[in-house]
Amino acid sequence: MTKVGRKLCWVGVNASRLLLAATFVFSGMVKVVDPRGTQYKLEDYFLAFGWSGWMPGFLPLWLAVALAVFEFCLGVYLFFGIRRRMTTRLYLLFLGVMTPLTLYLALADPVSDCGCFGDAVTLTNWETFGKNVVLLLLSVVVFRSYRLMSRFVSERNQWTISLYSIVFALVLACYSLYTLPVFDFRPYHIGANLPEGMVVPEGEEEPVYQTTFVLEKDGVRKEFPLEDYPEDTAWHFVDSRTVTVSEGYVPPIHDFSIVTWPEGEDITEAVLADSGYTFLLVSPYLEMADDGDIDRVNELYDYCQAYGYSFYCLTASGDEMISRWQDFAGAEYPFALTDDITLKTMVRSNPGLVLLKGGTVYGKWGCHSFPKVEDLNVPLEESEWGTLRSDSRMMTTLRVVLWFLVPLFVFSLVDRLWIGGKMYKRKKHRDSITNLLNKRKMRKKIVAGNWKMNLNLQEGVALATELKNALAADQPNCEVVICTPFIHLASVAQVLEGSVIGLGAENCADKEKGAYTGEVSAAMVKSTGAQYVILGHSERRAYYGETAEILKEKVNLALANGLKVIFCIGEVLEEREADKQNEVVKAQLAGSLFDLTAEQFSNIVLAYEPVWAIGTGKTATAEQAEEMHAFIRATIAGKFGAEAAENVSILYGGSCKPTNAKEIFAKPDVDGGLIGGAALKCADFKGIIDAWKA
Ligand code: PGA
Repeated sequence: MTKVGRKLCWVGVNASRLLLAATFVFSGMVKVVDPRGTQYKLEDYFLAFGWSGWMPGFLPLWLAVALAVFEFCLGVYLFFGIRRRMTTRLYLLFLGVMTPLTLYLALADPVSDCGCFGDAVTLTNWETFGKNVVLLLLSVVVFRSYRLMSRFVSERNQWTISLYSIVFALVLACYSLYTLPVFDFRPYHIGANLPEGMVVPEGEEEPVYQTTFVLEKDGVRKEFPLEDYPEDTAWHFVDSRTVTVSEGYVPPIHDFSIVTWPEGEDITEAVLADSGYTFLLVSPYLEMADDGDIDRVNELYDYCQAYGYSFYCLTASGDEMISRWQDFAGAEYPFALTDDITLKTMVRSNPGLVLLKGGTVYGKWGCHSFPKVEDLNVPLEESEWGTLRSDSRMMTTLRVVLWFLVPLFVFSLVDRLWIGGKMYKRKKHRDSITNLLNKRKMRKKIVAGNWKMNLNLQEGVALATELKNALAADQPNCEVVICTPFIHLASVAQVLEGSVIGLGAENCADKEKGAYTGEVSAAMVKSTGAQYVILGHSERRAYYGETAEILKEKVNLALANGLKVIFCIGEVLEEREADKQNEVVKAQLAGSLFDLTAEQFSNIVLAYEPVWAIGTGKTATAEQAEEMHAFIRATIAGKFGAEAAENVSILYGGSCKPTNAKEIFAKPDVDGGLIGGAALKCADFKGIIDAWKA
């Protein structure tokens, strides 16, 4: 797939994921804040399917809460990219079941509004089926390419958010059950004017219904439309059916009526037109009402009597139940009959309380939060209960979103600061070790021989030849260099041609060229075929008075002529005993090398040679060597930067032998050795070279 194709795929999968997530969070949230609404809808379905008989009474509510929490959490998980594989599978499974089910509901039409978005958005059954087909397609897309979904939360943090989402949804559902729905999407919300909700706007057609009666006479059944209802009383009623002939406009409130009990007088208009306060105690079924606060209701009725406010108990229960309630609850308030679905829609509590004034809903209370009469010791006009409470959906939405987001944010922050901090430190530590190992791998490992003033030409050529053969037979694991007296260079260069061994001089002049009898210039060294030159060796410093300034000249000339410099530094015994080794070494470095550019410095190899260890048989311990090498590297880092310090090879020199080389070379800042005495015997030198082998 091309790059553009991959990008498009990524966009497609993530767009599908966000659309699915938003739909599920929304549909889950509208159910979470109104579990009763979903419970009633499920009860409608169970009734239509004929399952109500055997279903335990608590089940619809439990299922409603479970469905609400499931949908909300699934939306959150998909949004954050939590357990992507499992989440997308659940989507596929859920929609794979719901889509055919909604097709059946659309065809059979047992319940007119599916209820998938609660009361917030009302869809017909066919619209719901269409919506589910789209969601099913999107869920196939995210399921097939779940790996392309970016995670908005680390894998480590996902459990916190998963659990928190479940707890949040459960707590909010319980809170909405205990009080009233946090969002009220129904036409009876606080601030709604009921008469206005009943108006059919001008120009809108009212729906037309056709009622047909099934009547029977002499064992014969026949259907009659309402207008042809037979006058012959021999026809007996069997059944009736009402169908919608044309849809028309149905106002939000279309089935609200109050008929007094037992008189049967319709007082709907009177109640709605009353400019005073009216309390409506709403109980769809008194037999199922929560009777925990019935005394408070009675006190409230007394209060209404005292101040002249109307009070009705609206129910859909029958005569017997109303009488029983009167006896049981000591209810003296008047009763009136209203359709049970209307009552369930008005307030999601049984019983619930609605306060009307001039047909407008001023307040609603669930059975656990009825107003206390102690708090109502003044007329309603003067109390906050009688004031129209603002019901800003914007503010409520913001509040609920913040309830969810603020703790989520705090969780993530704590997680990132605390656990993330730990992980970061661990990772940093791991990285630093890996870097060190990588850098060590990058740095050149070198074993260089310094023949000093030993071996005549023939002996030198013989030794070089022997070494060349030995290393040809057994390839070294490091770079090998031999530094010889000037007179050997050209001949040894010929011997070493085609071998892995590099060649270097032990010195060069501090002058470019000219009348300097006995001197050999850097250019001359280079012309022999040599690539290296040792400069600053302690013997040259001590016996030939080579100062830092002279060495600086030599270094510059060597580099200018394309030679690599093995620059020696190291303290004498007195300096070590006076604990001045660091100071001395730093001064040697600064005196001759600190004017170099980083580019020039990249051609320098350093050799730490404690003078007290050279040719004395007294070796520095591996720890002493490492300590000084680390100090040298830090000094270089300070001057030339960390990268130059990591890249420079630092060799150890001074009585290095096959027997101690391995231990010294094992130290992280030791990158090889500069070998004097032991470089004069092929076997010893090879033994040191082999120290780099495992
Ligand atoms: P050594 O010499 O190995 O004989 O101690 C080291 C050197 O001077 O380079």
